[in-house]
Amino acid sequence: MTDILVIGSVNLDLSASVSRLPAPGETITGATLGRFPGGKGANQALAARRLGANVKLIACVGDDATADEALALVRAGGVDLEHCMVDANEPTGVALISVTPSGENHIVVAPGANARLTLDNVDMPEADALICQLEVPGATIASAASTFAGFFCVNLAPARDIDKSIIERADLVVVNETESAWYGERLSLCNGMVATTYGKAGAELSLNGKNIARTDALLVNAIDATGAGDVFTAALTVALVEQMNPADALRFACTAASVATTIRGAQPSLPSRKEIDARL
Ligand code: RIB
Repeated sequence: MTDILVIGSVNLDLSASVSRLPAPGETITGATLGRFPGGKGANQALAARRLGANVKLIACVGDDATADEALALVRAGGVDLEHCMVDANEPTGVALISVTPSGENHIVVAPGANARLTLDNVDMPEADALICQLEVPGATIASAASTFAGFFCVNLAPARDIDKSIIERADLVVVNETESAWYGERLSLCNGMVATTYGKAGAELSLNGKNIARTDALLVNAIDATGAGDVFTAALTVALVEQMNPADALRFACTAASVATTIRGAQPSLPSRKEIDARL
């Protein structure tokens, strides 16, 4: 079985279904509220677990009831939380999300304890692959990237300035279209593969600036894209570490992400391996 280590965020997602996204200064009423476990780190950890990997999550939450709610599904799903830390001085991270009927979203994150995640007192577990994202301190990711010996995937989301050593070290960088434009030439620092997602238009994989695979997304009735990028990141990493060829791995990841958009909420929508195989 593949061993995956995820270092990243845990949030409680407060997700409002709205008829349309508000303009600046506008109030929209009539929304329905959902509370879902989320955070890019936790989403990617549980996504990899549902695909059959053994997963450890290194994260930081507050000493509050929000933490129990935010960790409920990763815990029930069998993600190893032995390295999940508690910071008594900060609240657990919360994401405020608005989702339209077509699945488009806006997300605002209050990171709380996620911003306190360090590896200072952690004995880094060994694994086949390490997956990180950018909702925890950049220094924590840079230190993990420099000490980890296996396959290293970084999902450069949300886009922000980071040490270039993180991109240089990556065997796989995952960005969406907006992030790709934001990082621009800096993505060429990556010595491994760069996967770019285009929502309904699918995804592509490149190596040394050359396209090596392209795939369409599955035609589905998308109602909530929250967490779709996380499923894509986890599925592509699991598939590549399992030695699937890049084209098949990209199709596997895109199918998993498409399926995830058909159910509301980030973690409730993460598909099992069986569900993905049935769609391929
Ligand atoms: O990628 C989706 C995630 O981003 C949400 O679950 C939310 O918590 C934010 O971190």
